[in-house]
Amino acid sequence: MTETTADPRGSYPPAAAFAATANAGQELYDQAAADRDAFWAEQAGRLDWQQPFERVLDWSAAPVAQWFVGGRLNVAYNCVDRHVLAGHGDQVAIHWEGEPGDSRAITYRELLAEVSRAANYLTELGLVAGDRVAIYMPMIPEAIVAMLACARLGLPHSVVFAGFSPTALRQRVDDARARLVITADGQWRRGKSAPLKEAVDEALYAHGGTPSSVEHVLVVRRTGIEVPWTEGRDLWWHETVTPASPEHQAEPFEAEHPLFILYTSGTTGKPKGILHTTGGYLTQTSYTHHAVFDHKPGRDVYWCTADIGWITGHSYIVYGPLANRTTQVVYEGTPNFPDEHRHWQIIEKYGVTIYYTAPTLVRTFMKWGRAIPTAHDLSSIRLLGSVGEPINPEAWRWYREVIGANRTPVVDTWWQTETGAIMISPLPGVTTTKPGAAMTPLPGISARVVDEMGEPVSHGETEANGYLVIDQPWPSMLRGIWGDMERYRATYWERFAEQGWYFAGDGAKLDTDGDLWVLGRVDDVMNVSGHRISTAEVESALVAHPSVAEAAVVGAEDPTTGQGIVAFVILTTEATDTGSALIEELKTGVAKEISPIARPREIHVVPELPKTRSGKIMRRLLRDTAEGRQLGDTSTLVDPSVFEAIRASKEAG
Ligand code: WT7
Repeated sequence: MTETTADPRGSYPPAAAFAATANAGQELYDQAAADRDAFWAEQAGRLDWQQPFERVLDWSAAPVAQWFVGGRLNVAYNCVDRHVLAGHGDQVAIHWEGEPGDSRAITYRELLAEVSRAANYLTELGLVAGDRVAIYMPMIPEAIVAMLACARLGLPHSVVFAGFSPTALRQRVDDARARLVITADGQWRRGKSAPLKEAVDEALYAHGGTPSSVEHVLVVRRTGIEVPWTEGRDLWWHETVTPASPEHQAEPFEAEHPLFILYTSGTTGKPKGILHTTGGYLTQTSYTHHAVFDHKPGRDVYWCTADIGWITGHSYIVYGPLANRTTQVVYEGTPNFPDEHRHWQIIEKYGVTIYYTAPTLVRTFMKWGRAIPTAHDLSSIRLLGSVGEPINPEAWRWYREVIGANRTPVVDTWWQTETGAIMISPLPGVTTTKPGAAMTPLPGISARVVDEMGEPVSHGETEANGYLVIDQPWPSMLRGIWGDMERYRATYWERFAEQGWYFAGDGAKLDTDGDLWVLGRVDDVMNVSGHRISTAEVESALVAHPSVAEAAVVGAEDPTTGQGIVAFVILTTEATDTGSALIEELKTGVAKEISPIARPREIHVVPELPKTRSGKIMRRLLRDTAEGRQLGDTSTLVDPSVFEAIRASKEAG
C-alpha cells in the first residue's frame, strides 16, 4: 500500500487502493438519503430472520421505537450457528490471549458447542426467556460464551464491569432483579489474582437484612484462588456447564425482545439501566462493523481493546463482529503487563489488521514513546479506530503515523451506550478525514448541531458550536431505562421535546466545511479514560465519609485520561485529621465505593463552595479553578469572595 499524505489543509483522503476494495462507498449515503426505511431493511438483510419482518419502523409510540416489526430471529444463531452451517466451523472466532501468557484459539464450531452447553445448563437451572442474568467476569472466553448463551435463551444480561465494587454490583443486581450471577473465582491483574467471587459474596450478603434476588452463582475457575462457597447456591462452571450437552436448538425471539441491560452514569448518582433489544441492535452493530471497519470475514484479524463491561465490548467484541464472522483477538490483561510491548507483540503474533482503541490509551502509548511500537512489525495493520472521547489532533496524527505507518485510515467513531452502535464516523473508503473530527453521520443516521432553541448553528463562514441531537430514530437506539420510563423521557427527550429530537448530552461544532467535531459532555457527566462517571456519584461517595460535610466534583482537563476528577470538600466540625492521610483515605474510599476509575486525581479541602442564590453549585467556576484559568462570570454567586478562600487552600494543599 502506498503512503497517503495530508492535503494542504491537513486532511487525509482515502488511499485509492483502499477505496477500490472498501465495503462501503459513496452510494450508501445516496441510498439512505433516497429511502431510509428501504436502506435499513437492506441492512437487516445481513441477518438470518426465522420470520421476516412486516414493517421496518413503527415510531407511533415515540420515544420508544419498534424496529423490524413482526420479525423473529435468534441473536446467538446469527453470531455462531449460521457460520458453522455455512461451512466456516473451522474458522477461528477468538484468539484469546491470557494475561499470564496462556492462550486459546476457539473456532466457530467450538464456540457453538460451548454456547450450547451453557444454554442447556441455564435451562436446567430453570431460567426462562425474560429472566435477568448478571455477568461479572474478567475478559475470558467464558464471558462471551455466557453473554451468547443468555442471548440464545432470551435472558437479558446485565454485564457489570469486573472492576466495579460489590456495592455497584449489588445496586445493579437489585435494580434488574437478576436470578443468576455468572462470575469467576478471580481475575489476573498485573500478575496477581484479584478476587471476584469474594466480591460477589460481599455484594449478595444480606445488607441490612435484605436478601438479593439471586438464586445461584455460577463460577468459572480462572486463577485458582481460594473462594468462599455457599452450598446449594454456588456452582462451578466446570462441574455443570462443561459436562452439559453441546447440542442445543435456538428458538427465535421477536425483534423487540430485550437483549441486554447495561448500566451507565447519568447526571444523578443512580446509574441508568440502558435497555437494548434484538433485531435493530444486531442490524446496526453488524452494519457499522462492516462499513466503518471495512471488515472482510475470513481475511481480517480484528482487535477491539475494550472490556465486555462497557458498551464497546458488547457491540464491537461480541455482537457486531461475531454476526459478521470475524476472527478476533481478545486480550485479558493490561497493556503494560509484563511490559509496554504487550499490545504490539499481540498484533505481531496474530497479524492483527484492524485495531480499535480509546484516545486515552493512544496518549499513554505516546507517553511511553514511539521506540516501543516501532520495535515491532505492525505492517499487518490496515485500519485504526478510536472511540470513547474526543481524540485530540496530536494523538490522532501520532496514531496514524506511528501505529499506522502513515498509510492506514483512522476512523474516529462517535456513539454512546444509549445509541448502541456507531452513529457518526468517517467511512474509511470514502471520507477525507480531519484529525480530531468525527466528520459525518453514517448513512442511515441523521444528526444536527443546534442552539438552545433548536435552530441549526450556522456554518459556512465561521465555525459554530451547539448541542448534538439525533433527529431520526435509529435501529440500535435504546428502548428505555430499565424500570424507569419517565426518567428515559426526561433525560433524553425533554430538552428538544417540541422537535422530537434525542439529546445526546454532548456539545459539538460544525466547521466551515460542515464537518462535525464532538466537543464532549455538556452535562454533569465526566469522561475519564473514556469511562462515564457522574459528578453526583463521586460527590455522594465523598459525603459518605463522616469527615465530609459537602463535596463538589468537576472533571478537569487531563493530558492522559481526557478528564481527571477534581473534588472540593468542606469538612465537618468533627473532622480531626485534615491533612494528607484524610485525602488519601477519601480517594481510596471513592475507588472502593465506585471503582478505581473514579478515584479522584485531586481533593482540595476548602472552607466554602461557590453557590448560586438557588443553592446550585457552580461547577463551571470550579472547573476554571481546577484548570488554573481566570474565573468566568461570578456575578450570580452569593459570595464572590469564596474563590479567594478556595484558591488559598488549593495553593496551601
Ligand atoms: C460518551 C458516551 C461509545 C462507546 C464508549 C463510550 C463520548 C464517545 C466519542 C468520540 C468524542 C466521544 C461522548 C459520549 N464519546 N465517543 N469519538 N468523540 N466523544 O460510551 O460510556 O456511553 O459514553 O462518550 O461524550 O456522549 P459511553
